[in-house]
Amino acid sequence: MSITLLSSPLQGFTDYRFRNAFHKYFGGIDTFFAPYIRLNGKMVIKTNYDKDIQLKNNNTLNVIPQIMTNDADEFIFVTKFVQSLGYKELNWNLGCPYPMVINKCMGSGLINDPDRIDRILDRVHSETDITVSMKMRMGYEHSGEIIDTFPILGKYPLKNIAIHARIGKQLYKGGVDLDAFQRCVDHSPHKLYYNGDITTVASYREMVKRFPSIDHWMIGRGLIADPFLPSMIKNNTDEYPEDRFEIFSKFHDTLFSAYEQKLTGDKMIIMKMLSFWQYFATPFSNPTKIVKKIRKAKTIEVYDDAVAEILDNERRFHYSDISY
Ligand SMILES: Cc1cc2nc3c(=O)[nH]c(=O)nc-3n(C[C@H](O)[C@H](O)[C@H](O)COP(=O)(O)O)c2cc1C
Repeated sequence: MSITLLSSPLQGFTDYRFRNAFHKYFGGIDTFFAPYIRLNGKMVIKTNYDKDIQLKNNNTLNVIPQIMTNDADEFIFVTKFVQSLGYKELNWNLGCPYPMVINKCMGSGLINDPDRIDRILDRVHSETDITVSMKMRMGYEHSGEIIDTFPILGKYPLKNIAIHARIGKQLYKGGVDLDAFQRCVDHSPHKLYYNGDITTVASYREMVKRFPSIDHWMIGRGLIADPFLPSMIKNNTDEYPEDRFEIFSKFHDTLFSAYEQKLTGDKMIIMKMLSFWQYFATPFSNPTKIVKKIRKAKTIEVYDDAVAEILDNERRFHYSDISY
């Protein structure tokens, strides 16, 4: 069975700078979901959101924009905006678990209100011709909430429902609930994509074994932590390329330059890169030490030396691993 890999959006991480650098050096992702657009009550698209999905900034990528809202007027406004850029699909975020979103009945806080979901989807489908896809958790309080939305979702020609197999209340704690995801597979009126905790080729293979009918897999944090993961999954291998650290180094430098152009001052750039290193360090030999080293860097000169030393150590660690 041929499979499709999708990049699950991470606000603050998988913007067009990351997506382009990732695609250039690693590949393996068929489609990138852009982080959500949120209007906050005003019918205005903020510059950052606009820039992130402009076609000229994504000209070698397949991108699907995303909205987070609980309001049909906002949905229709953003639909018209993304259509004006040439997009045919808009993904609706019913997954975000954070209290400031839940308190406004958005993200996973909207899953337990099927009537409101119905009213929004009804207007979007009668007033626009956008293709709608969903990205959901399985509920906020409990994993049965999503099942109660299925009769409503079944009324609309949704392209798919991507499910992060947790509930909102968990945030990112605890494991994914695969039995509950199986119930979604059994009851969904639409095609499902699986999302959650695919961090290694082995964990991907486990999921494939468990859910043989799923052929679309979304990877979020695992892709940032190990950008080789999607291409290794596609090539059905556990082996990294021999020049793993050279490739990573070039990718890092491309990402760094992109943020150097956006941000002002060493501190801001290093802070941004530190947030990435909190993921990048995960598959390396001593993640805590690596993050500490980056955190200690206060100038770009010191940061550059730290990165060179980290990659050199990893290369040697890896080399000695193979040789002895
Ligand atoms: C920092 C951060 C930002 C996120 N931003 C978004 C977002 O903009 N839209 C969305 O649908 N999900 C967002 N998510 C959720 C991820 O896309 C994904 O569903 C979740 O991390 C589970 O998948 P994973 O285990 O592969 O990371 C975010 C997650 C994190 C940790």
